[in-house]
Amino acid sequence: MSDFDTLNAILSARYSCRAFLPDDVTQDTITDIAQAAQKVPSWCNAQPWQLTITSGQATDRFRDALFAHALTNAPKPDMEWPSSYIGVYKDRRRACGIQLYGAVGVEKGDHTASAKQMMENYRLFGAPHVAIVTSPAELGPYGAMDCGGFVTAFALAAAAKGVASIAQAAVAAHAPMVRDHFALPDDRLILCAISFGYADADHPANSFRTQREIPDTVIDWNI
Ligand SMILES: Cc1cc2nc3c(=O)[nH]c(=O)nc-3n(C[C@H](O)[C@H](O)[C@H](O)COP(=O)(O)O)c2cc1C
Repeated sequence: MSDFDTLNAILSARYSCRAFLPDDVTQDTITDIAQAAQKVPSWCNAQPWQLTITSGQATDRFRDALFAHALTNAPKPDMEWPSSYIGVYKDRRRACGIQLYGAVGVEKGDHTASAKQMMENYRLFGAPHVAIVTSPAELGPYGAMDCGGFVTAFALAAAAKGVASIAQAAVAAHAPMVRDHFALPDDRLILCAISFGYADADHPANSFRTQREIPDTVIDWNI
């Protein structure tokens, strides 16, 4: 297998996992994943990412506190949310929503059931671990961009180790609570969480795969 084929196989195998087994990932494996992900480029090699990673009861304490908080508090993210999804972005967003809700049996228009599925974000989808990803506020959008590369590499390195993951903006939406819970400094932006562990492969939430556009849709050749 060529290096490209190997990499492409890992890219194809990764998906956002929304139901996990309770089994822990060893600290050595988590360290290997983070160390591999750190090889991504960053502007000036600043490596702005910082991770707070939970295991065991620390994950459960955070899960319980986050779920209770999200039930009664409006989102207050550190980083501005997209103002709107229009055109193809709206279409793609809707398509993956339909796939998820279809997979878990939520009927169109059943707002109670869709809200219940959405709240699974705040149970970290049952994951035994979560990594909170932060970036120094003064690095602004480029710090966030570097961290985005790190998050993707973390997910791919995890997939290569058989560890499933999901990036979650939903967790970062409750930045003040997350900051208080982990005593994170005010001068770091809480960008997202990565919940991770071993996939519950038989769970319906993990039964679908999202689609991608063909290259000609996203490349404007200028030759
Ligand atoms: C930065 C980022 C934040 C995300 N936040 C959430 C989230 O809060 N909840 C969720 O269910 N999925 C979240 N996702 C997962 C996306 O919905 C998913 O990546 C997308 O639908 C493509 O599907 P795939 O990852 O299975 O290929 C996030 C992904 C990224 C990259």
